[in-house]
Amino acid sequence: MYVLGIETSCDETGVAIYHSQRGLIKDILYSQIAMHNDYGGVVPELASRDHVRKLVPLIRQCIQESQLSSTEINGIAYTAGPGLMGALLVGAVTARSLAWTWQIPAIAVHHMEGHLLAPMLEANPPTMPFVALLISGGHTLLILVTGVGNYQLLGESLDDAAGEAFDKTAKMLGLGYPGGPKLSNLAEQGFSQLKFPRPMTDRPGLDFSFSGLKTFTMNALNATEKTAEDKANIAAAFQEAVADTLSIKCKRALQQTGLKRLVVAGGVSANQRIRATLTQMIKKENGEIYFPRPEFCTDNGAMIAYAGCQRLLAGQHQDLEIYTHARWSVSELSGC
Ligand code: KG4
Ligand code: ZN
Repeated sequence: MYVLGIETSCDETGVAIYHSQRGLIKDILYSQIAMHNDYGGVVPELASRDHVRKLVPLIRQCIQESQLSSTEINGIAYTAGPGLMGALLVGAVTARSLAWTWQIPAIAVHHMEGHLLAPMLEANPPTMPFVALLISGGHTLLILVTGVGNYQLLGESLDDAAGEAFDKTAKMLGLGYPGGPKLSNLAEQGFSQLKFPRPMTDRPGLDFSFSGLKTFTMNALNATEKTAEDKANIAAAFQEAVADTLSIKCKRALQQTGLKRLVVAGGVSANQRIRATLTQMIKKENGEIYFPRPEFCTDNGAMIAYAGCQRLLAGQHQDLEIYTHARWSVSELSGC
């Protein structure tokens, strides 16, 4: 089964084709970063308009470069949420219209389920059950995964998501958008002799809170001369505090569930320091850790094609209605 995957939930137009037996055939990504850069963040209306411009040509290119014809596509998967409503609608309407024209099923995919299943695209995929840490721009989630669609929420951020904290802290340090990779690069030049708090690790539970850490970082920055060296040191201390906090909570989630397998995905999982800290923790626990390749940590069409393919294979699909949800909890998903 060939599945066309469409991702338009935020600032990347992702298109991919996944085959149920042959695996990933083609993955194309167009990033709007340069366009939003002038504004210091994503401008939702500009994002929607750019998806409108780019999506259909990218779908055509993806099918052509896969050396397929549209008649060979067996299903279409599109991100139906959570995300920016206008951006989601572009993908959903395009997917639904093409599916109707080609007389094939369409399936609405949860963006975070796409992230969660992204490590399945790798050569050595994890087996279920596992604990998943999803760290993106809008979400920080710890989930017990027992099957595709069987997700039990163990913990989540009560305020800023991990990526959001990176982006806001980067802004504070005068770095551009998107802040995560820029802050991470700066942190490489710093030395984290400053000890920042590891929020909510001194009390039981698996929830996160990063907004206090952001304020602590601002106060620490204001207490310096704000030289390039100061900023690099602050970035390093911030990054280490996030990495440690995530690691402490993951270890706790594994202990609570009795599992040894950890999957880490979402944009922030591209962060080398976080990858290293979590890998070190898992090694000590004699467990296993799985990440997507860095380009599949951030938004992409491949993860949507993969997730949609699993659901289509299980016989699930949508009717002619257009499904989009700006907010949508993974706990609401059903298994397949
Ligand atoms: O998963 P993603 O591409 O989009 C959402 O679903 O939100 O995640 C984007 C987030 C942004 O906050 C971005 O700054 C962060 O992931 N990010 C990083 C890195 N690469 C992307 N944060 C820290 N270090 C990175 N290397
Ligand atoms: Zn994402």
